Amino acid sequence: MIRLVMLLMFMLKTSVKNSIQKIARASWKRCVGLVTDFAYKYQYDLFFRTKTKVIALEFFLVATIFVAISVVFNYQYEGATRTLADAIERTLSLIDTNDLLVTALIFLGTTTLFGYIIAHIALKPTRDALASQKQFIGNVAHELRTPLSIIKTNIEVALLERRLDSKLRDTLLGNVDELDRTSDIINNLLSLNTLLNPERVEFSNVDLGVVVDAALAKLSVLAKQKNIILSVTRGEFLIVSGNSVALEQAAMNLIKNAIIYTPQQGGRVDVAIAPNYYGHIELRIHDTGMGISREDLFHVFEPFYRADRSRSRAHGGSGLGLTIVSELVKLHRGKITMQSTEKQGTTVVVSLPVGNVPQLITNNKKTDERVAIDFSDYKHPARSTKK
Ligand SMILES: Nc1ncnc2c1ncn2[C@@H]1O[C@H](COP(=O)(O)OP(=O)(O)O)[C@@H](O)[C@H]1O
Ligand SMILES: [Mg+2]
Repeated sequence: MIRLVMLLMFMLKTSVKNSIQKIARASWKRCVGLVTDFAYKYQYDLFFRTKTKVIALEFFLVATIFVAISVVFNYQYEGATRTLADAIERTLSLIDTNDLLVTALIFLGTTTLFGYIIAHIALKPTRDALASQKQFIGNVAHELRTPLSIIKTNIEVALLERRLDSKLRDTLLGNVDELDRTSDIINNLLSLNTLLNPERVEFSNVDLGVVVDAALAKLSVLAKQKNIILSVTRGEFLIVSGNSVALEQAAMNLIKNAIIYTPQQGGRVDVAIAPNYYGHIELRIHDTGMGISREDLFHVFEPFYRADRSRSRAHGGSGLGLTIVSELVKLHRGKITMQSTEKQGTTVVVSLPVGNVPQLITNNKKTDERVAIDFSDYKHPARSTKK
């Protein structure tokens, strides 16, 4: 009997010890992840930085007021003959260590709470303005779509006429191209509008590798036209919880930007997908392109913002791509960070919460496969057949 109890005790002890070890190991990884993520975010995540700034500023203000009040009190009650330095020294010597600790804790707690509330209130007008702006954009886009498609159909009907003069035909074909570009913009605007009603978007487990492959397949022609080398690196577990259409659009917009804003000849675009700590899958897109200035980097996620307008106009586009990407990432409860050095290149990192299908993950046998695609010899069937 005693032996049995001892055996049970021993088993209990071992299992408790094992679970503690397991938890410790997991927390240790988590801890390292949190610290490095904090440092990383502080360096590159602009949204994070602005909120932190508000809180830090508030900390500074409260601390200053706190010190000022106690010094003034001392100065008042301990005799006006003292010098200011004396008063500060006396204030500090009056407080004993325990009091100091408790005061510091209360101070930290209240200040953080106030900081958070103030940051929240301060940023509210900006959030509201952005929401109504999106609503307005969506309404306009919706109204423009019908007349545009009528114009396009009319032109296409006119093009069916065989006796059409060749110059006129070219002009009409040019118009159809421009209309296609305009409907691209309108579609982007409507996506923004859909994002205002996220409950309409369906979520499932999506293989991010497959989604990115689909986007890359559509962009390979563009990369070839610009002589840019596209490469893909994949990690092991790439199932995220999301909407495949939305994720493909996000990947398309980002990779397209990387290709468009990388000058011709010798440019590279490297795409990498891999899991990171704390249950997220990271999509990293690095280009060796023209980069974005520090000033512009703060604004590129705003609707219609385009860095260096004259240069950007030559590349087409509308300044909505990144706005949509950031909205899509937010919708997936993910994060996006952008790091850029002018004339050297840009790195965009999107991290998305992992999906929950273990059997799919174990079936995925592609481990660290590196695929480099060189499009330099590829002959693209020219669009000029249209013109
Ligand atoms: N990879 C990149 N390299 C350099 N500049 C970029 C990159 N991605 C985006 N940008 C800049 O950010 C701006 C906004 O991008 P985006 O919202 O996709 O709009 P668009 O591409 O339609 O201009 C672009 O006009 C461009 O100046
Ligand atoms: Mg773009």
